[in-house]
Amino acid sequence: MKKSPQIILLILGGTLFVISFIGMNIYGYKTFYIEEKIVPSNDYRYHFALVSEEIDNEYWRLIEQGAREAAAKHNIYLEYVGPLKADNDQLLKLIDRMVSVKVDGIITQGVEGKRFVDLVQKSVERGIPILTVDTDVKSSARKAYVGTDNFYAGQLAGETVINNTTGEQYVGIVTGRFDSINQQERLEGFKEAIQTTGRIHIVGMQESNITQIGAAQATYSLLREHPSITVLVGLSALDGIGMVEGLQEIAPNKDVYMTAFDILPETLALIRKGEINATIAQYPKEMGFEAIEVMIQLQQHSLLENEIFTRTIVVEKENSDTFLREDDR
Ligand code: BGC
Repeated sequence: MKKSPQIILLILGGTLFVISFIGMNIYGYKTFYIEEKIVPSNDYRYHFALVSEEIDNEYWRLIEQGAREAAAKHNIYLEYVGPLKADNDQLLKLIDRMVSVKVDGIITQGVEGKRFVDLVQKSVERGIPILTVDTDVKSSARKAYVGTDNFYAGQLAGETVINNTTGEQYVGIVTGRFDSINQQERLEGFKEAIQTTGRIHIVGMQESNITQIGAAQATYSLLREHPSITVLVGLSALDGIGMVEGLQEIAPNKDVYMTAFDILPETLALIRKGEINATIAQYPKEMGFEAIEVMIQLQQHSLLENEIFTRTIVVEKENSDTFLREDDR
């Protein structure tokens, strides 16, 4: 039987609609975030979500690694999600989604602002405990925090500059993101430490957007705007690596004292070469591991001690070998 042109058009139109609808769902969804495709089995003990600041950031992958170790040990299905690029709005939407799918617990970076506080409240009211990792929001109803004492870490960064320089010093700060609470706390700690000397002055601050290239650009413009800079301090994990790159670009022969954060392999290599003078090591794997252990306890009862600080250590060329062995767990 011959089909009329109208019917053919209708079939074609319908097929196109279905294809574009499916495409929109797959690709439109992927522009927001990546979600690990792990099919949960039905015999896990709990289903937890770990929400990171940025899914593929090396530092967050270490938190994930620690969390996966603990999850495997306790038969927990762990979903690791995060925005493709650091973005608070996307992160909050992900938390909301995890609340809607009724996971048993959410481990997330704390985010500045009322939206986060409200979301935590909503989650807890629905019986889903939230634990902050890496960055805390004390004013929220989160059940616990696992991570660095960020104010103290900032003080340690300040001490590296105090102990290793003499005379007037002019500091350029590279911060991951202005609106990140842990960056603000580290800066406060740093300021508190240096104010005791009166000879160390912050002259400028730029954002890296927690990327290496962003940190290189930030360094470049800091040095261009403030040629007086004698010290560079990076407050997030990729800043130190970018600072070295930026300095090489604009003033390769300038003598600048550099303090970074974290000990990603490249940062450690630069410490060994003497291009970065000091770095404040955090223990992201430990954070991830501990966060799962604490979340398991939260399934049964609230905690008396709900602020669990992981270690923070100053790493310089001299102790970099010891540190490696210590971290080899
Ligand atoms: C911070 C994290 C941040 C990461 C970025 C770390 O120092 O603790 O909050 O996501 O740097 O690379």
